[in-house]
Amino acid sequence: MDHFMRVMSVRGDGANPSDLYMSEAPRPETGPGSVLIRTSHAGVNRPDILQRRGLYPPPPGAAPGLGLEVSGWIEAIKPALPPPSSSEAVGQLTFSDDVAWRVGDPVCALVNGGGYAEYVAVDLRHLLPIPAGWSMAQAASLPEAALTVYANLIEHGGLQPGETVLVHGGNSGIGAMTIQMGKAWGAKVIATARGTDKCEFAKSLGADLVIDTATEEDFVAAVKGAGGADVVLDIVAGDYVAKNLLCLNMKGRMVQVGTGRSPVVELDLRRVMQKQAVITGSMLRPRSSDEKARLTAKVHEKVWPLIEAGRINPVLAETFAFEDAAKAHAWMDESHCGKVVLKI
Ligand SMILES: NC(=O)c1ccc[n+]([C@@H]2O[C@H](COP(=O)([O-])OP(=O)(O)OC[C@H]3O[C@@H](n4cnc5c(N)ncnc54)[C@H](OP(=O)(O)O)[C@@H]3O)[C@@H](O)[C@H]2O)c1
Repeated sequence: MDHFMRVMSVRGDGANPSDLYMSEAPRPETGPGSVLIRTSHAGVNRPDILQRRGLYPPPPGAAPGLGLEVSGWIEAIKPALPPPSSSEAVGQLTFSDDVAWRVGDPVCALVNGGGYAEYVAVDLRHLLPIPAGWSMAQAASLPEAALTVYANLIEHGGLQPGETVLVHGGNSGIGAMTIQMGKAWGAKVIATARGTDKCEFAKSLGADLVIDTATEEDFVAAVKGAGGADVVLDIVAGDYVAKNLLCLNMKGRMVQVGTGRSPVVELDLRRVMQKQAVITGSMLRPRSSDEKARLTAKVHEKVWPLIEAGRINPVLAETFAFEDAAKAHAWMDESHCGKVVLKI
C-alpha cells in the first residue's frame, strides 16, 4: 500500500459538503520538471465548493481532484529535460529554475487540482518558499490568493501607487488579499462587506473605508464621496457591475474575478465610452503551466518581499483535520472572515 495515498473525493452530485468522503488513490506520477510534494496543509477556496457541486469543472489536462493550493515538503524531484536548443531556452528561465530545490525542502504552491491529498505533483517552476515567520498552515492559504490578486489587481488592473481600489467581499480570501496588497502597493482601498464583523475584519487589514452592504446596498454614493475608484476588483458581479461602472474614475479599470451573484449583467455602455473605461478579468486555473510559472516568478519577486516585510499578513481563520473536509466546506458556506485550510 506504500504507493497509495488518502484523497478526498466527491460522491453523487456533490450538492452538499457531506458528499465529500475519504478514499484511496495511487500517488501521482511526476513527469520531467516536476516535484512530488508530501502535503502538509491544503487551502480551501470558493472554487473548490463550485467544483464539488459540478459548477467549475477542471480544465483539460488538470488533476481532477479538489484543491488548488498546498504547503508541504518535497518528497522527490524529477529535473526538467534539457531544452532542445539554446535559442528555445531564452525567456524560459524562471525564479524556480534558479533555485536549487532539494528533497525535504518546505514549499508552498498553486496546484492545478488534487490538493486535498497526501501527495501532489507540481511543476518545479510553480514552487514558492514558505515566507519567513509563516507556519505551514498559513502558507497553504497563500498561493491562490497571492497569484489571483497579483494577476488581476496589478497586471490586469494596472494599479498604481496613489490610486484608489474598490474591492467587494473584503472578508473573503480574495478580498482580504486585495486590501493588503492594495495598501502595500501604496493605494487607497475602499472595501465592501456584509455585516459589522466582516467590515471590522476588512478595516483591521488596513482598508481606508469600509462600506457595510448589509445596511447600505447602494455603495455608489459612498465610493464617489470618497473620490471614486481607479480599479474595481469584483467577485460579486450581477447588479454590482453597473454600480462599479458608476464608481469608476476616468480611465478606470473594472476587473472581474468572480460572479457570486450572477455572471449575466446589464450595462450602459455609454458610460464605458465616456470614462474610457477598461472592463477585464481573468481566471487563474485554466492558464498554461508556462503562464503560471511566469506569474509565480513575478509574485515571488514583487509580493514575497511585501510578505517578508510584514505588509501582507496571514488571514488564516480555521484549520480543519483532513477527514473533516466537509466541515471546512460548510464553514466556507457560512458567514466567515479570511481563509481556511485542511491539515493533511
Ligand atoms: N478568477 C480567479 O482566478 C479566481 C481565483 C480564486 C477565487 N476566485 C473567485 O473569487 C471569489 C472569492 O473566492 P474566495 O475563495 O475568497 O471565497 P470566499 O472567502 O468564500 O468569499 C466569497 C465572498 O463573496 C461574497 N459574496 C458571495 N455572494 C455574494 C452576493 N450575492 N452578494 C454579495 N457578496 C457576495 C461573500 O460575502 P459573504 O461572506 O457576506 O457571503 C464573500 O465575501 C469567488 O467567486 C471565487 O470563485 C476567482
